[in-house]
Amino acid sequence: MNETLSILTLCTILIATLFLDSYQKRRRLQALIPPSHNALPFIGNALSIPALSPWKTFHAWSKELDSELISVWAFGQLTIIIDSAKATRELLSHRSANYVDRPRIPMLDLSGWTDTVTSLMPYGDTWRSHRRILHRQFNISIVSGFKSTQEAQIKPFLTKLYTTPEEFARHVQHFTSSLALMVAYGYQIADEEDELSTMAFEAVEAISKATFPGAVAVNTFPSLRNLPEWFPGAGFHTYAKTSRKMLEDLRNRPFDMVKELMAQGKALPSITRTLLEEPNILSPHDEERIREVASMVYLAGAETTFSAIKTMIMAFALNPEAQRRARVEIDTVTARERLPTLDDQDVLPYVQAIVREALRWIPILPLGVIRSSISGDIYNGKIIPAGTTIFWNAWAITHDPDVYPDPDAFRPERFLDADGHLVPDDEKAVFGYGRRECVGMHFAKNTLFNAAASMLALFEFGKAKDDDGNEIEITVGCTDALVSHPTDFKCSIRPRDEIAVQALQGIGSLA
Ligand code: HEM
Repeated sequence: MNETLSILTLCTILIATLFLDSYQKRRRLQALIPPSHNALPFIGNALSIPALSPWKTFHAWSKELDSELISVWAFGQLTIIIDSAKATRELLSHRSANYVDRPRIPMLDLSGWTDTVTSLMPYGDTWRSHRRILHRQFNISIVSGFKSTQEAQIKPFLTKLYTTPEEFARHVQHFTSSLALMVAYGYQIADEEDELSTMAFEAVEAISKATFPGAVAVNTFPSLRNLPEWFPGAGFHTYAKTSRKMLEDLRNRPFDMVKELMAQGKALPSITRTLLEEPNILSPHDEERIREVASMVYLAGAETTFSAIKTMIMAFALNPEAQRRARVEIDTVTARERLPTLDDQDVLPYVQAIVREALRWIPILPLGVIRSSISGDIYNGKIIPAGTTIFWNAWAITHDPDVYPDPDAFRPERFLDADGHLVPDDEKAVFGYGRRECVGMHFAKNTLFNAAASMLALFEFGKAKDDDGNEIEITVGCTDALVSHPTDFKCSIRPRDEIAVQALQGIGSLA
């Protein structure tokens, strides 16, 4: 008995010493790294990070601590959030080589995503070859090659907005999926039931869910991944299996279809076909890269663009003056004899400003995309340890009142000078920094311009009315996932007038 007691006492002393030791080490480290907000021993800030709009809380902490960088602790794990444009630019752009990495997230590892999805991939040869291929397809001097596809794919979307405007969100989703699938695979979605059309959305949701309660434990304590599947609480294995299958489908199904059509000589132009036709594609390894890159185009392009178009529709419904001003500009250029095209961009600065303002107003990735430091670094006298997980607070940067006065208001004119010309703006908070900046940004901006200009040329947006004729208010809010978008809302979408009705009815024949 006494022996058992003394073993127990010894164990308690040992655990207490280890705990104290790690606590003291953390205390010492905390004095050197960016400040944290009331981090408790062991759990850190885990209980005070809200599920809703955490970026707003991080920004409030940064203001309270008067620090551009803050440390957030959860169960001994350190994350640094960069809260200012200046610090983000300095670290992620100017010192890009040190922050080009992404951390390995155990739950995504288990699901097989880390080594195949460009945006989640650690720095290394595979990532470099993905970037090389993607850059060749999407660099600014090449993207004009997609114009005709972008302009063709918008037409069925406009027709659907006309016939069933109340289902606008579904139509936007269908449009952005169709465009991404057409560009990546030359695949034309048959109808809204087509399984391929929702695959990218399901996959992005799965990535977001990698932080669901069961998964968080694995992310925080990676050794839990060794628990057997039957073990209570090891439900993350089931999740991992499902999302692994989802990833395989995403990579293989549309790709195999293109190969089959190519063999029959029937494949439409697409990135996959172009890459497979290159003479240097020799090995299964090369083919694997093409599979991954093509699925990335679909994965990265569909939901981000969906989110931005939904934001624009919300902004239009709330801002009749912005609509009016855009229409004057568009009508002057088209004389209402045709739809605006991507070649009109330079003469439609207000529409371009609308796109920028939508991306600023509700940022699609409010905390950017996760990064990690390769070596230790110092910023403003504070240490950023090697291997630290890092986020940039895109929401805080795009809502800085010193740069964007009245930041919650939707005001496209903030991007125009007194002569109505676009002013230079740093879009990096929205599209990313340095070597990891978004590969598809020029393509995405073209899609958004095309959508904004065509919708405004034809439709009038406003608040919906209830059965008693009262306006239904629109609450401006956004979802709290990795890719955030406006929460659901109702609005009225009607053709502007008889000319617009005529144009919509004959849209197939419009130039
Ligand atoms: C409005 C739409 C879009 C927004 C706001 C957006 C934003 C972003 C952001 C913030 C990142 C992370 C950059 C970083 O870590 O510095 C990113 C990465 C990426 N984006 Fe986009 N994106 C959009 C559309 C697209 C499209 C249409 C494509 C299609 C080609 C695309 C392809 C990628 C890829 C491949 C990466 C990974 C880059 C890497 O990790 O090296 N994106 N995007």
